[in-house]
Amino acid sequence: MTRTRRQLSFYPLIAGLIALYLLYALVQNFIVDPGADTFIHHKAGQTRELQTKTWLTVLYLHVGFACVAMASGLLNFAARSYERHRRFHRLNGYIYITSVFLVVLTSGYMAPYATGGKISSMGFNLLNILWLVITVTALVHIRRKRIRQHRRWMIRSYAFCFTNLLIHLFTFVLHQLVDLPYITSYTIGLYAAMVLVLLAPEVIEPSTNALS
Ligand code: HEM
Repeated sequence: MTRTRRQLSFYPLIAGLIALYLLYALVQNFIVDPGADTFIHHKAGQTRELQTKTWLTVLYLHVGFACVAMASGLLNFAARSYERHRRFHRLNGYIYITSVFLVVLTSGYMAPYATGGKISSMGFNLLNILWLVITVTALVHIRRKRIRQHRRWMIRSYAFCFTNLLIHLFTFVLHQLVDLPYITSYTIGLYAAMVLVLLAPEVIEPSTNALS
């Protein structure tokens, strides 16, 4: 049967781009700049002093589990993953939820030291709460066998995996192109990323075939 336009799958393209981003995040944070020197440099003069060793260990865990969340979520969005590989989908789903929980936990530790001070800390804490509530809502839906709602809420949850990418994109544009100070750019970038991760799933939801 010929595929109609609506049935065309964007999954391989999206999966390829996400795989590239994962590779970039791992290489950048564990090989190129394992001491996060570039990032820490922007924290000079902040009121709350960084416990660099502990902060770095937490950051490694944060980045590691963030990558696991991104990869496991991606696998579960693969075409008919639920119908064809139900056991894998369930196990992998719990891996995703555990990773989200650990990213939120590590983020909770780092939030008070966030670049930009109190305003950024508040933004990260809000993100933490929203991500947890949305992910748990997705879990509750599937426990009650509501597959459509589960899928909708998982798309909302998965959008949060793009937070760091979006923050850096906005920061780059505002700092490098608009010439705003780095800290201002980062703080605006954080809130802009938050708006985008909340709104984007509402726009792509009506055409969720794009993901499958
Ligand atoms: C899932 C994809 C994510 C990845 C790959 C990721 C990665 C990173 C990395 C590499 C950093 C170090 C600083 C930088 O280079 O930006 C960082 C910092 C941080 N991340 Fe994430 N992150 C992710 C998602 C999140 C989410 C969803 C939250 C909040 C709910 C969060 C909260 C934080 C906090 C609080 C910091 C410290 C920021 C600062 O010190 O200014 N991250 N993250």
